[in-house]
Amino acid sequence: MSSRIASVPGTVDLFPEESARRTWIESTARTVFERYGYGEIRTPIFERTELFSRSIGESTDIVRKEMYTFEDRGGRSLTLRPEGTASVVRAVLGRGIGQNAWRLYYMGAMLRNERPQKGRLRQFHQIGVEAIGRVTPATDAEIIVLLMDLLEAVGLGNLRLRVNSIGGPGDRPRILEAYRAHFGPRLGGMCEDCARRYETNVLRILDCKREGCQEAIEAAPSVVEIIGPEARERFREVLTLLRAAGLEPEEDPRLVRGLDYYLDTVYEVAHPGLGAQDAIAGGGRYRISFGEGETVEGSGFALGVERLLLALDAEGKGGIGLRSPDVYLVSAGRDALPENFRLARQLRRSGLLVRMDLEGRSVKAQMRAADRSGARWVVVRGEDEIGAGTAVLREMESGREWKVPVGELAMRLKTGRRRTDEEKSKAAADGNETADGDE
Ligand code: HAM
Repeated sequence: MSSRIASVPGTVDLFPEESARRTWIESTARTVFERYGYGEIRTPIFERTELFSRSIGESTDIVRKEMYTFEDRGGRSLTLRPEGTASVVRAVLGRGIGQNAWRLYYMGAMLRNERPQKGRLRQFHQIGVEAIGRVTPATDAEIIVLLMDLLEAVGLGNLRLRVNSIGGPGDRPRILEAYRAHFGPRLGGMCEDCARRYETNVLRILDCKREGCQEAIEAAPSVVEIIGPEARERFREVLTLLRAAGLEPEEDPRLVRGLDYYLDTVYEVAHPGLGAQDAIAGGGRYRISFGEGETVEGSGFALGVERLLLALDAEGKGGIGLRSPDVYLVSAGRDALPENFRLARQLRRSGLLVRMDLEGRSVKAQMRAADRSGARWVVVRGEDEIGAGTAVLREMESGREWKVPVGELAMRLKTGRRRTDEEKSKAAADGNETADGDE
């Protein structure tokens, strides 16, 4: 048996190519969030357990069976965060909400003890947004537009935006009563989970996927039919604004989210290329209460980065990966190493991506390595060039070469990097390479 230690199922190691794609998604998200006036918040990766149980809800799948909970040495119950909203609300309450409108975003690892499958990990990554304080239906709509802008900015099309309203706080008793009356007589033919939800949160029955429960669910009234005129008006306003912004929301009367803190507007964005776990992002309006004077109204969403990447893969869109080096420095002869070593540092300090051989390989082997590296340029220096203060500069794609004073290298490599295709074709048409400095 191997003594190698395996990683925990449902976790991944990200190597540079994969990290680069994520960095690109994260920086795109930052740019979009900034346009909407959102600033970054970073909260701890673990919290007191009751923060999650009291906000997400005792009866939810997350709190019942998916949290990584442990006791620390002082006997306190702590939990690795399964989501970000509860922590952001706690942090904002600590600062005091007052009349402020907090507009925050976050990105980071979340942990849920789920059975791993495609699009479902135990440690996954979310990018989320929370608006807390002074939240209106227009805030809900703006956040949804922001989410769709972000998905468009990373190049994702083919998305379904499903929205629903689950009514305001005043509608709760009416909703529970209507669904109890509907499902009560039908419970006998339904699954155990539905029987439990009937007791804990009857609305969640609408979310059951089991075959045997569908008939009763199909026959149920939609929430929008049950809620009062005010909540219905709030929902209409959200839909009107989404359409005004050019989106095409689908009203989905069966959409209820898996966390208990939601009210009014709820939504999910799905991609058909993802299979069973097709929700890229989900969110809505929420109210979280930790007791007297500790009630927070907010609105937000979180998107799953891994699912976003799977959707991009399904559309054949890679996103931005690693940058290739600008230049590979070849040392002709071992004596050239110290001078080239110095030059490499100088070029790197001027901002260029530089690779060089550190193993004393032959010029031929170094040229092969340069080719494999994808570098645009190769600079070759041996004793002669070092003595004369020059270097041989070679453009890999065209095979053209120039002899260049070493002091001009950095500038030549940088202007070369900026040279547009137009200039390139013009130079080729003129048969005149000296515009770029032929010797
Ligand atoms: P959520 O629906 O539980 O909502 O998660 C949001 C997104 O995180 C999902 O749509 C999915 O893309 C991703 N996700 C969730 N679980 C996993 C998993 N096990 N593996 C991979 N990806 C996963 C929330 O977390 C709420 N806090 C969203 C929110 C923010 N509501 C208001 N503000």
